[in-house]
Order: sequence, then C-alpha cells, then structure tokens
Amino acid sequence: MIKLVISLLPLLIKHGCCCCGCYRCCSLISIIKVVVVVVVSPHKNILRWIFLNNKSTREACSYGGRVKAQVTTEVPVKVVKESKKQEEGIVVNKFKPKDPYTGRCLLNTRITGDDAPGETWHIVFTTQGEVPYREGQSIGVIPEGIDKNGKPHKLRLYSIASSAIGDFGDSKTVSLCVKRLVYTNESGELVKGVCSNFLCDLKPGDEAKITGPVGKEMLMPKDPNATIIMLATGTGIAPFRSFLWKMFFEEHEDYKFNGLAWLFLGVPTSSSLLYKEEFEKMKEKNPENFRLDFAVSREQTNDKGEKMYIQTRMAEYAQELWELLKKDNTFVYMCGLKGMEKGIDEIMVSLAAKDGIDWLEYKKQLKRSEQWNVEVY
Ligand SMILES: Cc1cc2nc3c(=O)[nH]c(=O)nc-3n(C[C@H](O)[C@H](O)[C@H](O)COP(=O)(O)OP(=O)(O)OC[C@H]3O[C@@H](n4cnc5c(N)ncnc54)[C@H](O)[C@@H]3O)c2cc1C
Ligand SMILES: NC(=O)c1ccc[n+]([C@@H]2O[C@H](COP(=O)([O-])OP(=O)(O)OC[C@H]3O[C@@H](n4cnc5c(N)ncnc54)[C@H](OP(=O)(O)O)[C@@H]3O)[C@@H](O)[C@H]2O)c1
Ligand SMILES: *[C@@H]1O[C@H](CO)[C@@H](O)[C@H](O)[C@H]1NC(C)=O
Ligand SMILES: *[C@@H]1O[C@H](CO)[C@@H](O)[C@H](O)[C@H]1NC(C)=O
Ligand SMILES: *[C@@H]1O[C@H](CO)[C@@H](O)[C@H](O)[C@H]1NC(C)=O
Repeated sequence: MIKLVISLLPLLIKHGCCCCGCYRCCSLISIIKVVVVVVVSPHKNILRWIFLNNKSTREACSYGGRVKAQVTTEVPVKVVKESKKQEEGIVVNKFKPKDPYTGRCLLNTRITGDDAPGETWHIVFTTQGEVPYREGQSIGVIPEGIDKNGKPHKLRLYSIASSAIGDFGDSKTVSLCVKRLVYTNESGELVKGVCSNFLCDLKPGDEAKITGPVGKEMLMPKDPNATIIMLATGTGIAPFRSFLWKMFFEEHEDYKFNGLAWLFLGVPTSSSLLYKEEFEKMKEKNPENFRLDFAVSREQTNDKGEKMYIQTRMAEYAQELWELLKKDNTFVYMCGLKGMEKGIDEIMVSLAAKDGIDWLEYKKQLKRSEQWNVEVY
C-alpha cells in the first residue's frame, strides 16, 4: 500500500542546526546526525520539514501543535482522583498478534557512541495514523522468521519513545528506543537477541509487524501542574522522552505543562547518555519546570567512592524527594532494569523511617492513587 516515492537521500545535517526555530525539529535533527530521508506518500511534509528554513517548514511544525491532546480540567483531590487509566479514548490491543499492523521503518539511527557498551537505536515507523497511542504506552513487535520449533516468533514489547503525535508531529509515526541484546551463553557462544537485533538492523523501507498499543501503567497524569519524577535506566528512558516531548516541545490547546518534571537517567558511560541534547535543550528553554540529573555508573562515584547508580544520584536529593513525595500531585514513574526498583526502595525506606513511616505501606498507598508507577523488566 505504501508507495515509496523517492528513496534514500542521505543528508548530513550539522549538529545543533535548526531548520525552523521549532524545538521539536531542532532536537530530532540533533539526534539524527545522518538523516536518511525516505519519502513515503503521506509523508511529503518530512521533506519540507527537513530541508527548509522557510515558512512552510514552520507550518509543518506548528501543525503538530494543533493536534488535540488530553482534556485537563481536573484539580487534584486528596482521595478520589480521576484515574488516568479510565480515561476515554485510550486504545489498547487494536492490533492483535494474529492480525498485526505492518509498519515501515522510516529511519533508524544509532544513538549511542562508538565506545559505548552495547548499541541503542532510535527507530521511527510509519503508522499512517492507524496505531493510535498515548504517551506511556508500548507496542509489540513480531520479528521476522521462525523459532527453533519452526513456529513464528513471539512478539516482544517495546515502550514507545515518541509522544502521541509522533516525531514528525503528524500522528503518523511511532518511535522506539531499542538496545541490541548480545551476550555470551554458558557454552561460550555469542547469542543475539531475536527481536532487538531484527529491529536494530532494519533499514529505511523495511517492514515490521506491530501489535498493540498496550499498557496503562505509565500513562501521564492529567494535572498540568503535577510534579512528575521520572526514573530511567538505559532504554527505560523511552516513555519519558515521550512525556517530555509532550510537555516541552509541543503546544496543546488543552495541556500546558506548568508543574515540575524531574528526570533521573542512569547509563553506563557518557557515550550512552540517550537523547542528552534534547533534554538539555528542554532544560535551557524551561529552567523553572525541568530538572535533569544523570548517573553515569562507570565514570562517576559518590563521595564514598561507590558506583553512581540512579539511586545513588537520587540519594543526593533525598530530603527534597521525600518532601515532594508527600504532596498529593507528585507522580513517580520508574522504567528500565528490574534491579533498579530494589535500590530505589532502599533509599526510600530510610527516608520514610525518619518520619516514622513504613515505606512499603506508604508505597502501596501511592500505587493505589496512581502516584507510584513502575514498568521494569
Ligand atoms: C513492557 C516492556 C517494555 C519494554 N521496552 C523496551 C524498550 O523500550 N527498549 C528495549 O530495548 N527493550 C524493551 N523491552 C525488552 C524487550 O521486550 C525484549 O525483551 C528485548 O529487546 C530482548 O528481546 P530479544 O528478542 O532481542 O531477545 P531474546 O531472543 O528474546 O532473548 C532474550 C533472552 O535471552 C536470555 N538472556 C538475555 N541476556 C542474557 C545474558 N546476559 N546471559 C544469559 N542469557 C541472557 C534470557 O533468557 C532472555 O529472556 C521491554 C520489555 C517490556 C516487558
Ligand atoms: N517498560 C519496561 O519494562 C522497559 C522499557 C524499556 C526498557 N526496559 C529494559 O530496561 C533495561 C535497560 O537496559 P539497557 O541495556 O538499555 O541499560 P544499560 O544501558 O545497561 O544501562 C543501565 C544502567 O543501569 C545500571 N544498573 C545496573 N544494575 C542496576 C541496579 N540494580 N540499580 C540501578 N542501576 C543499575 C547500569 O550500570 P552498570 O552496567 O555499570 O552496572 C547502567 O548504568 C533492559 O533490560 C530493557 O529490556 C524495560
Ligand atoms: C520553501 O518551501 C517551499 C515548499 O516546500 C519550497 O518550494 C521552496 O523552495 C522553499 N524556499 C526556500 C527559500 O527554501
Ligand atoms: C495550574 O496552575 C495555574 C496557575 O498556578 C492555575 O491557574 C490552574 O488553574 C492550575 N490548573 C489546574 C488544573 O489545577
Ligand atoms: C549457546 O548458543 C549456541 C548458539 O546460539 C547454541 O547452539 C547453544 O545451544 C547455546 N548453549 C547453551 C548452553 O545455551
């Protein structure tokens, strides 16, 4: 169905260059250092978007801003809060494994440096507007080929890394942030993860079977004045890039973020700091509303000489974080490696204890009011 009109026009766009003064464009460009443009018929505006330093490009950008987002008229109330999970219009499982959507890879860029341990890729797929998703949801991908029993591969889930209107602002794409899984097994042989390698190897124009969207745990709170604390390790950054684009790179008639967004991101090396330039741009533009802290585990330590994990960085702000957690409109989101949850609980236990509060009990209460949201794997 999709007609590839022109293909593969590799372009070198200078780092930090901005085509139109619109922050979403600037940032996408800064992560895509070598941009491969594939013009698919519904995507003519990408060409405009990338090339032009003129009015039509700005229009393409502001088009994104006019797309309707969530209705935000709720004032946070202590006990009865309207659940984000019951919100109207959230689609789940539109595409099931038996009848998946076939998307096409529009671009695929490695976003970790050459010396990073492992590779992570930012991948954009066309959806033609057929896969409607919200910030915080995931999609499934069914990799090509068959497993060792001759059956088609099972789907793997991936957190969506773009906001609901997508990286191009036209509601016709969905993006992922995928780490290539490679490890040495017990017999000393190199094993490549099936789906992550399928995804990281996709070339523009290649097809991928997509299911979903799924997931309600990581949906954003409706309150535009909320404090949103985001805790990510590695590719766990995906849903937060989605949140942050909506908050800081887009204009929505019915959602103008004016709370505090605080992102903690833990990665092994500075060459694996995902989407760093985008986040720094957001901070520069919104110093009052955005805080950004990195934990670079293999390069930094705390003053006791301990490895700088995300919880180690959080501990520097322990009292402040605890005060924020006592507020009714503070929402914590955690995404990434399973191990991080335990580490974060440990610092919270001691903080809560100072106020005579049992952290595990308190956390249950926060979970019930959707203020503590976890998706780790
Ligand atoms: C809700 C959710 C969201 C997710 N979001 C993302 C995301 O945004 N980005 C992302 O990159 N991933 C994400 N994942 C993980 C993703 O679903 C896949 O699990 C991951 O990409 C690996 O899949 P694969 O097909 O490449 O590996 P597979 O071929 O499925 O191999 C994985 C298996 O290999 C084995 N294995 C893995 N590592 C080792 C090791 N070091 N030593 C020995 N055995 C090992 C384990 O048995 C493991 O189950 C998410 C998972 C969930 C549940
Ligand atoms: N929704 C979800 O469920 C979801 C979404 C996206 C990603 N993920 C998963 O998240 C993981 C991210 O992996 P990645 O390979 O991208 O990460 P990575 O690049 O290896 O970075 C993870 C960082 O976390 C550190 N770390 C290791 N153990 C930790 C612990 N117990 N507590 C805190 N920090 C710890 C690592 O430090 P060292 O390596 O130096 O020890 C490293 O700095 C993957 O397993 C991916 O499948 C899940
Ligand atoms: C401005 O954009 C239009 C529409 O894409 C294009 O035809 C025109 O050449 C551009 N002008 C300049 C000066 O780049
Ligand atoms: C958010 O705060 C602004 C100004 O502080 C206020 O005018 C607005 O009503 C608040 N919105 C909600 C939904 O509480
Ligand atoms: C290790 O990987 C190789 C290649 O994938 C496979 O043939 C072998 O069975 C694996 N060994 C173990 C112990 O898993």
